[in-house]
Amino acid sequence: MDYRKHISQKLNIDGVSAEQLCSFIEIPPNNDMGDFALPCFKLSKILRNSPVKIAEDLKNAFVVDEYISECSAVNGYLNFKINRKGFAFNLIEKILNAGDAYGSAEIGKGKTVCIDYSSINIAKPFHIGHLSTTVIGSALCKIYRFLGYKVVGINHLGDYGTQFGKLIVAYKKWSSEEQVKEGRLKELTRIYVKYHDEAKLDPTMDDMARRYFKLIEDGDEESNKLFEMFKKITLEEVDKIYKLLNVEFDSYAGESFYNDKMAPVVNELKEKGLMKTSDGASIVDLEEYGMSPCLILKSDGSSLYATRDMAAAVYRKNTYNFDKCLYVVAYQQNLHFKQFFKVLELMGKEWAKDLVHVAYGMVSLESGSMSTRSGNVVLLEDVINKTIEKAYKVIEEKNPELQDKETIAKAVGTGAVIFGALCNNKIKDIVFSYDRVLSFEGETCPYVQYTVARCNSVIAKCGELGDFKKVEMNDDEYAVIAELGKFEEIIKASAEKYEPSLVTRYAIDLATVFNKFYMNCKIAVAEEDVKNFRLSITKAVKITLTNALTLLGIETVEQM
Ligand code: ARG
Repeated sequence: MDYRKHISQKLNIDGVSAEQLCSFIEIPPNNDMGDFALPCFKLSKILRNSPVKIAEDLKNAFVVDEYISECSAVNGYLNFKINRKGFAFNLIEKILNAGDAYGSAEIGKGKTVCIDYSSINIAKPFHIGHLSTTVIGSALCKIYRFLGYKVVGINHLGDYGTQFGKLIVAYKKWSSEEQVKEGRLKELTRIYVKYHDEAKLDPTMDDMARRYFKLIEDGDEESNKLFEMFKKITLEEVDKIYKLLNVEFDSYAGESFYNDKMAPVVNELKEKGLMKTSDGASIVDLEEYGMSPCLILKSDGSSLYATRDMAAAVYRKNTYNFDKCLYVVAYQQNLHFKQFFKVLELMGKEWAKDLVHVAYGMVSLESGSMSTRSGNVVLLEDVINKTIEKAYKVIEEKNPELQDKETIAKAVGTGAVIFGALCNNKIKDIVFSYDRVLSFEGETCPYVQYTVARCNSVIAKCGELGDFKKVEMNDDEYAVIAELGKFEEIIKASAEKYEPSLVTRYAIDLATVFNKFYMNCKIAVAEEDVKNFRLSITKAVKITLTNALTLLGIETVEQM
């Protein structure tokens, strides 16, 4: 039953289509006011009347039916109460039937979304600064897929630049194949840091680095072999973390992939008269748009980050014909995205409007921040492992008898890290605290996972679910059901706003109302009909919470 559609068809207002009306209808923040509401100020202009009068008139004309039991006009809002019993039973039946598909939709059918996320840099440590892009991007991939979109997850690797020349110099001076294979990414970081210390004293090293970089570009076999080794090691290392976080990509086409794809873009810029020279470099002047110029080519003719991004955007449009292309990248790069989106627009690419920079805030640890060059970085792997260890200790303390504590600690620990990063509006800076993300009380993953485990134990205690269609509902039961009914909208809104935190917040809210219901209502020992109804609610909560967590890349556990 689509209540919005039903209400808007019944209202039948001249000059406003049912679809438009449907989009105006909201769910009030508080159930007491009603289950749905139409804010009549949205109709004021069209109907040339005050919201209060419109609400009054609409109310007087509205006839209640088997779905809508009450309609009232309050302060310019038209509030509707639905037949809760009918709603509850339909919803629960729907959830139990849909199972892991509950919340999914087909609104994305036939549409493609490219999502550029994580986009790590080769031979650099995978540190806590990459957490947000990785988990936000991954959640958006899963959410869009759930809504029926075709999703292309892209890791736009940072695998181009003089730093690879530097790395070769450093490798030749201070490392070897054995050492790199042994020490992996840590060894690469070690020599890269050493390079920067030494190059301060010996500037000729930078010339050598430039020469090696040129050799890579010119296809020199030995240099490329080394470069490929650095790349392979980096990808193997980060893949371990991706596996832990349930993150996957469809493409690893990085910056170097566009080496031979930039010339057409640069030529087009020239032909369209958009390019200027400034101090020998080629730029697109964006002063008119209040931005500094977009750098296209350096004075030596080499390309820049923006040039590669423009070639990548064109390639993605040609290859995937996306309806939208998202870039999940920190807000520090705001200007970069604004610039190259604008340049593509000036080139006449009408699809430039479909490029979206999904910006997010910084993550730091409670104690201090990080920077690659100085070498004192906080590795994401260390953060995850430490969280898993701490989770293990908590479990051992609270429930020493539990079977398979390691698996559970892994799910709880990684879940806590992901959930912690997705808990707030993405643009906010986060200070990561182990104790906070692992707390069982509060807005955390363990709290939600624990609620799922609680559902499991109720389900195990109750046994088979019988017919559940006959009882009256109390407020605690209805509060859970009302919350369950919001899931589909939450998923859609989180995709529309590129905001997985709506899903984490929702999971907390649903867990909270369920736990209140659990405290106030007996389930297993209740009278048969009541027991069945409450058991059906419990099953629906388990399904919905599990689906929510799965979309975030978080695993649930049977017991905790
Ligand atoms: N590798 C870049 C960095 O670490 C992020 C790349 C983001 N994606 C892009 N298409 N520019 O800053």
